[in-house]
Amino acid sequence: MIEIHVKAGSPRKQRDDAVVLPLFAGRKLSPSGELLAGSIKSYLRRFDHLGEFGQFGTLYDVEGTLTQRVVLVGVGEERKLDAQALRRIAAKTARRLNEGGARDVSMYFAELQARGTTLVDRVQALAEGIWLGLYTFDRYKSEKKPNKRPLRSVTLMVPSRRDLAAAAQAVERARAAVAGVLFARDLANEPGNVCTPAWLGEQALTLSHDKLRVTVMDKKAIEEAGFTGLLAVNQGSAQEPRFIVLEYQGGAEGDAPVALVGKGLTFDAGGICIKPAAQMDEMKFDMCGAAAVLGVFRAVIEASLPVNLLGVIASTENLLGASAYKPGDVIKTYKGLTVEVVNTDAEGRIILADALAYAAERKPAEIIDFATLTGACVIALGAQASGLMGSSEGLVRALHKAGERTHDRAWQLPMYEEYQEQIKSKIADIKNVGGREAGTITAACFLSRFVDKVPWAHLDIAGTAWNMKGTELSSPGATGAGVRLVFDYLLHRVGAA
Ligand code: BES
Ligand code: MN
Ligand code: ZN
Repeated sequence: MIEIHVKAGSPRKQRDDAVVLPLFAGRKLSPSGELLAGSIKSYLRRFDHLGEFGQFGTLYDVEGTLTQRVVLVGVGEERKLDAQALRRIAAKTARRLNEGGARDVSMYFAELQARGTTLVDRVQALAEGIWLGLYTFDRYKSEKKPNKRPLRSVTLMVPSRRDLAAAAQAVERARAAVAGVLFARDLANEPGNVCTPAWLGEQALTLSHDKLRVTVMDKKAIEEAGFTGLLAVNQGSAQEPRFIVLEYQGGAEGDAPVALVGKGLTFDAGGICIKPAAQMDEMKFDMCGAAAVLGVFRAVIEASLPVNLLGVIASTENLLGASAYKPGDVIKTYKGLTVEVVNTDAEGRIILADALAYAAERKPAEIIDFATLTGACVIALGAQASGLMGSSEGLVRALHKAGERTHDRAWQLPMYEEYQEQIKSKIADIKNVGGREAGTITAACFLSRFVDKVPWAHLDIAGTAWNMKGTELSSPGATGAGVRLVFDYLLHRVGAA
């Protein structure tokens, strides 16, 4: 992560390699830009662009400045800007500058009047955009792309020196959130031959803080504890499963923790009900729920947030083999409920059953789970929102709000009692599929059987957790969906935001 600083001062006085100014549609300048108007008005009339969102143009050796270049970045119409537009424009600008030229730059974007934002929100959004946009995953490229003069530091310019303390805090908050997101991306972008359950356990152990305890259970410990759902899904795999428990005591002793539960399928071939080959490679991302849990822990640790957290991750592959579990099998879960396995590809809910039941047993204040659970959720919501369901309307509403604030969005689907009918089994307590209709909801109904009375929310991140095309804020691959959402939820829960 490059350096980000905050500072107040005129664009005429900055000695950095570049002064970056916004240009509104119609080539209108911002208040800071107006301070240079005398020197750049004549250029502006015949400038390379009109100030439409995402356009770039550079002026060299501008009179009345101390910088090498003034970069004018189109931001479109000011009234259309919101926090997400700031993240996007910061990411685009950082990527562009990173291609070469300026190394240290002053950016005058924080004064933009983005809808529904305070200065602190804007500084945080800009810092997030810069860091998220610059992320790449290239560790398996023998020849890294040569970036001769990569971007080294960005100074976010704020209107007044009185804003500096709050702005610096906003950068720190962004740093924590992004550290969590990038940790999740790094874990999930690893291929399945590297990212195995055992490796995931080792990664969890790299998190360190004096208030954090991490326990990684191997197969023997899992057998002793009785996580029989996880063991059933693991039967077809040569890789041992892992059950990972994280306990962070940042809050008061005796305060019930918030439990975060994650689906950690390091590869999901579907099992005996094997998936088609097309895009099966993407099923290495089926551990993105686990990555999101670890990402939130990373962010919370980075921010030393005063909250108690319990993390629970169940991790295995779902493969085929002579000892793999089969359609028609009836298995017993950790909680004791029996499950008729109708489709071995509905494995996530089976391992989550054990993780959720264990979490509930620990009597947390609430449970939030993350899982790339259903293809149906990709069809329903696409890449624009995670599926959001739960037993607590208050928790669901609070998560929805955090999603809107962070643009790491989630949209609620109903959990009417009637949907539970679809997972009734003739031979066991429940079955693991509820038919084609409302597949995302019936999967959540299955999970709901394992959380007892603990207020619970479920994030189905199947459509949001990775993006093979990439976006302005994410390189192709894992996105870290859910991390900023839940970190922001926790910040508000403890009154830190
Ligand atoms: N990991 C998949 C869900 C998935 C599919 C996520 C595609 C992202 C993209 C999950 O384990 C699964 O296979 N679910 C099945 C359930 C079905 C058999 C009831 C699905 O959605 O097809
Ligand atoms: Mn599956
Ligand atoms: Zn899966």
